[in-house]
Amino acid sequence: MLVKDNNATRAAISLEDKYGAHNYHPLPVVLSKGEGVFVWDVEGKKYFDFLSAYSAVNQGHCHPRIINQLKEQASKLTLTSRAFYNDQLGVYEKFITRYFGFDKVLPMNTGAEAVETAIKLCRKYAYEKKGIPEDQAKIIVCENNFHGRTTTIISFSNDESARKNFGPYTPGFIKIPYDDADALETAIKSHEHIAGFLVEPIQGEAGVFVPSEGYLKRTKEICEQNDILFIADEVQTGVARTGKLLAVEHENVKPDILILGKALSGGVYPVSAVLANDPIMEVIKPGQHGSTFGGNPIAAAVAMEALKVVTDENLAENAEKLGKIFREELHEFINENPLVLAVRGKGLLNAILINDTEDSSTAWDICMKLKENGLLAKPTHGNIIRFAPPLVITEAQIRTCAQIIKETIAAM
Ligand SMILES: Cc1ncc(COP(=O)(O)O)c(C=O)c1O
Repeated sequence: MLVKDNNATRAAISLEDKYGAHNYHPLPVVLSKGEGVFVWDVEGKKYFDFLSAYSAVNQGHCHPRIINQLKEQASKLTLTSRAFYNDQLGVYEKFITRYFGFDKVLPMNTGAEAVETAIKLCRKYAYEKKGIPEDQAKIIVCENNFHGRTTTIISFSNDESARKNFGPYTPGFIKIPYDDADALETAIKSHEHIAGFLVEPIQGEAGVFVPSEGYLKRTKEICEQNDILFIADEVQTGVARTGKLLAVEHENVKPDILILGKALSGGVYPVSAVLANDPIMEVIKPGQHGSTFGGNPIAAAVAMEALKVVTDENLAENAEKLGKIFREELHEFINENPLVLAVRGKGLLNAILINDTEDSSTAWDICMKLKENGLLAKPTHGNIIRFAPPLVITEAQIRTCAQIIKETIAAM
């Protein structure tokens, strides 16, 4: 039996290896089922999912309410394109704008598309409402950002593997250090025609870098004083992940443009969104931006239910409370274990920093051992491991998982 099942793992991996582009380096586990905080592999082994599809599955795998909406809507109407109206989109648009407190939403599918949309919106607003001369608008971004994989977005990345040999790059971006509000002020003083500041409230992919308290508030104020749009990319941090509905809420900041994706659908369907108030959103006119699938009836129905689940199940509060417990457990442990240098994060977006060089395989090796011990996690960059379980996790489960992590590392 075991031999046959091992073959199932090998067979699935070798299919991907032979027929799929090698643009990812997955952990060698082949999943075939998910429910709540758990996933199962093709051999029937059960794991705690501590990645949540890069924070897309905040509501837990296959949440019954979201899946029901998906099935119900899929059996009625799936796609109309925006050439016609559909009976779900307007209802969703009213719902999501009230939910997050903006006048309007522009629906897209993936996170990167939503970031692209926000960049276009910011530029157009700069030309048409602020009088910046055509083609001169600049957007300030942060070093070590991760906003997706399109040609424009990688143009302002400083991850060489994401950039190299994909040029020529899109101009119009100025990079400043993250968590440095003075650098924002300096950049604004030393450059003309700044249209916006694009920022992740916590840098997730870079290794869960939480900026100093007050950074978001201060940068928002600087943007206001200089008539620059503050654009928050909450694709990873949004939808309750960090212990608030939005990570900017930790500092009572309201972005001019808000970018959401991932958990907007509970990981069930690609749904992303850009939210802004009328003066900004109204610069977009028919034919100037869109997507065949953006705002389709399934996406609208699924996203509405996914957001209702977040509220009904108090997922932000749960993330806040259990995140503290998780970090406390690991803090105690790392005081005694030299292999881990630090634990950091907010809510249930956390990471540990491994005491080894960035190019070492230690973080990967730890993830392989965690897998053996029934917990799936993945290194972000070199020596950093992110821990981001579904937000439906219970206190008993988070304590069990902290125990698994501690025992695994202690045995290394
Ligand atoms: C902050 C942030 N923005 C944008 C994206 C891109 O989203 P997608 O992979 O859905 O295009 C990600 C993905 O990890 C992200 O973390």
